[in-house]
Amino acid sequence: PRLLAVDHGIRRPVIVAHRGASAYAPENTLAAVDKAAALGTEWVENDVQRTRDGELVVLHDDSLQRTTDVEEVFPDRAPWKVKDFTAAEIARLDAGSWFDPAYAGARVPTLEQFVHRVERYGQKLLLELKNPQLYPGIERETLKVLSNEGWLDRRHVGSRLVVQSFSADSVRTVHGLKPAVKTGFLGTPPVTDLAAYAAFTDQINPSHGSLSAPYVAAVHGFRGPRGKRMEVLTWTVNDAAAARRVAGFGVDGIITNTPDVVRDAVGG
Ligand code: G3P
Ligand code: CA
Repeated sequence: PRLLAVDHGIRRPVIVAHRGASAYAPENTLAAVDKAAALGTEWVENDVQRTRDGELVVLHDDSLQRTTDVEEVFPDRAPWKVKDFTAAEIARLDAGSWFDPAYAGARVPTLEQFVHRVERYGQKLLLELKNPQLYPGIERETLKVLSNEGWLDRRHVGSRLVVQSFSADSVRTVHGLKPAVKTGFLGTPPVTDLAAYAAFTDQINPSHGSLSAPYVAAVHGFRGPRGKRMEVLTWTVNDAAAARRVAGFGVDGIITNTPDVVRDAVGG
């Protein structure tokens, strides 16, 4: 099937495990990376935020409440914001039991731990700077961690890493600090604004509900800051019909909690 697709010039979308394979393992944990790897998923998405003492950690919400046992461990610390806890405090929390008792003891990983695990499987990383307005300087700090881990080496940087955010300012900052890093903007800017976005982002990554074939074609009509055709990765597509629909629009990637379902639907 892969050869046939190439012969006909059809490009299958890459598949990205959203917060890891988060339908099957607790989101943004190392177990979710393991599950994504077990399913053969090429890319993993995560969400990066910062602790009170400056450690970068992987968590979606700005509060620890939904996905850990923080309420039990620190009952007096409502509203349990990531930015108000030290890395050592967060390392004590159980980030797996809320999802399934089988995952009791899973931890909130540091960015460094998460990158190591992705690297172990030879996967690629779609890193989201989450709530960057809460964490001034997080763009530089994130690039520093990635650099320390060798992820900004010339032979790797363009091929296995994208840094994305809902904050255009944050994406622009990443591009300004390290132009070799591929970037993504989360959202659906009007077509008339795409030329401005093309100055600093390689990808436009919209919610699939707001997507159409003409919009994908419009994005593809621009070259991003590194001279390549701009790409579209869409989220969060968890069923076969929606996956086929967006693949038909010509998207370059599908971000999903269920990478196995999407792969069965569109190949890859
Ligand atoms: O990668 C896209 C997607 O993760 C954006 O939404 O809220 O799941 O971070 P959210
Ligand atoms: Ca995300």
